[in-house]
Amino acid sequence: MLAVLAAVCFLLSQPVCCVFQTLYCTISDSCDCDFRPDMRDLEWDLYRNVYGQHLAQDIVSEEVASFLQNKSPDRPLVLSFHGSSGTGKTLVSSMLAKHLYSSGLSSPYIHQFIPTLHFPLPNRVRRYRSDLESWVKGNLTECARSVFIFDEMEKIPPGIIDVLEPFLGPSHVVFRTNYRKAIYVFISTTGEKVINQLALDFRQAGREREEIRLADLQDAVAQAVYNSSSSGFYHSSIIQQKLITRFVPFLPLCRRHVERCARWQLCQQGWCWRNDVVEAVGGDMIYTPDEGRYFSTTGCKAVPAKINLFL
Ligand SMILES: Nc1ncnc2c1ncn2[C@@H]1O[C@H](COP(=O)(O)OP(=O)(O)O)[C@@H](O)[C@H]1O
Ligand SMILES: [Mg+2]
Repeated sequence: MLAVLAAVCFLLSQPVCCVFQTLYCTISDSCDCDFRPDMRDLEWDLYRNVYGQHLAQDIVSEEVASFLQNKSPDRPLVLSFHGSSGTGKTLVSSMLAKHLYSSGLSSPYIHQFIPTLHFPLPNRVRRYRSDLESWVKGNLTECARSVFIFDEMEKIPPGIIDVLEPFLGPSHVVFRTNYRKAIYVFISTTGEKVINQLALDFRQAGREREEIRLADLQDAVAQAVYNSSSSGFYHSSIIQQKLITRFVPFLPLCRRHVERCARWQLCQQGWCWRNDVVEAVGGDMIYTPDEGRYFSTTGCKAVPAKINLFL
């Protein structure tokens, strides 16, 4: 029956076709849009082009692979990225987009929310909640494999994101669409203090940063996110109900990582051999704490500006 409906849909011309397609997607759950996940490319990109983030590399590749292997997941994949500015959070979210949909971030099935653009006024929370809910619902009806990226969560007024709670849980088909195939990525700097402190503790104890395990940070980050009044997840039922599949900590970057970022940028511009610029950029960053100067305060964010200065 559904196959016939789909075939009819192909044959019919535009507006009518769209109505049929929406109907078909709503009652089936088989609409995977132009979803073309390439796990090998994603892993390659993560391990080759993201520096100093073993936790993010492992968690993202493992969670995405196991989520995609399951043809009928019992809940969506919900990842929450945390860490200081310039450590690669947005970079990893765009890699994810790029290797799930061939058109990457410009795919109509990848939805990116920028708080200052989409939720600018704190006194409009009710309006934003209902807009967000109907928007997510509408997009999931069109494409069960939709990806929703919420960047700079610390700028989202508290209370808005909770409207997503019914979409993130394991309950059965809500809103007559298979919302359990969706992927949500939340990004914020909240939790950076606990992450950076642990990285510092390891460093001062002479231990490798790669020895840091997710278990060392998972609960501390969840708590920081729940208790921080400047977090979009402040006192959120999403955290209480444990609806985040994984918190993904991004560690503070050291000088050697900054220099790798500089080299990569230089190579893109055809200046691969300019070791002098790589070194100058690495030396011109501000590192904390005062004693030891281990971690770049802006991660790799200021690298392009510094390159322009020294090139
Ligand atoms: N861990 C990293 N590995 C490689 N490049 C990085 C890393 N972190 C940041 N960068 C570079 O710095 C730029 C800014 O990083 P971004 O992902 O936007 O940081 P944020 O964590 O603030 O979202 C990126 O476009 C990328 O070129
Ligand atoms: Mg960012």
